[in-house]
Amino acid sequence: MAYSMKNIEIFDGQRAQTYDSTINVWFDQYETLINLLKSVINTKLAEPNKPYRILVLGSGTGNELLQLATAFPQSEFVGVDPSAQMNEIAKEKTKGLNNVQIVEGTIDNLEGKFDAITSILVTQFFETSTKKQIIRSIYEKLNRGGFLIHADAFGNSNQVDTNFEIYNSFLRFKHDFEGLKQGLDQVKNSLNYIEESRMEFLFKEAGFSSVTKFFQWLIFAAWLIEK
Ligand SMILES: C[S@@+](CC[C@H](N)C(=O)[O-])C[C@H]1O[C@@H](n2cnc3c(N)ncnc32)[C@H](O)[C@@H]1O
Repeated sequence: MAYSMKNIEIFDGQRAQTYDSTINVWFDQYETLINLLKSVINTKLAEPNKPYRILVLGSGTGNELLQLATAFPQSEFVGVDPSAQMNEIAKEKTKGLNNVQIVEGTIDNLEGKFDAITSILVTQFFETSTKKQIIRSIYEKLNRGGFLIHADAFGNSNQVDTNFEIYNSFLRFKHDFEGLKQGLDQVKNSLNYIEESRMEFLFKEAGFSSVTKFFQWLIFAAWLIEK
């Protein structure tokens, strides 16, 4: 087969335990993006105070779940993530909320459909063929009129070269720790950057009707995609 079959990125051990502190280093505007999610959802739900069913795909340490389940107490939130260790942290973080359920697994392990889905920084690890499979599964799991909020590593090769150089410079101005260079190399070489037009094509091919980019910080971007 011409493509990689990797469809789970392993987050365990140190990578899970240090996620909350390191994500803000490698993605300086992470909090801004997570904070924006509730506003995007608020503008798209017909009646935000009514109960909806919302999926957080790759819910990690629970940062989206905490923000969203607090902002929309009438709605039911399901987080799904294959990492037991990330899930443990997420459960602890959201233990005061009665509208959050966390499932260990992938989207294919879930029952029922959803009114909205978020997939933030999950498919950036995967080749385009795997991104495509996940986008298809997301489409299948959305109710009619539902929407997806998706964040990925993006850019064509010129954009990635230019934006990564700025990213590199930004991190070197702001941080100085052992492992910085190695981390920068990893961000450059291990993420699967996707060209914007290709990303849009994958969504349209899956059946989505509209794709709007609402956020970009250098090599990371987020889109609102409507079914
Ligand atoms: C970079 S973290 C992002 C976590 C969270 N969405 C956030 O923005 O903080 C990626 C997460 O995706 C999870 N993951 C890896 N492969 C996955 C898959 N196939 N489906 C769902 N989640 C996956 C990892 O376990 C990890 O928790």
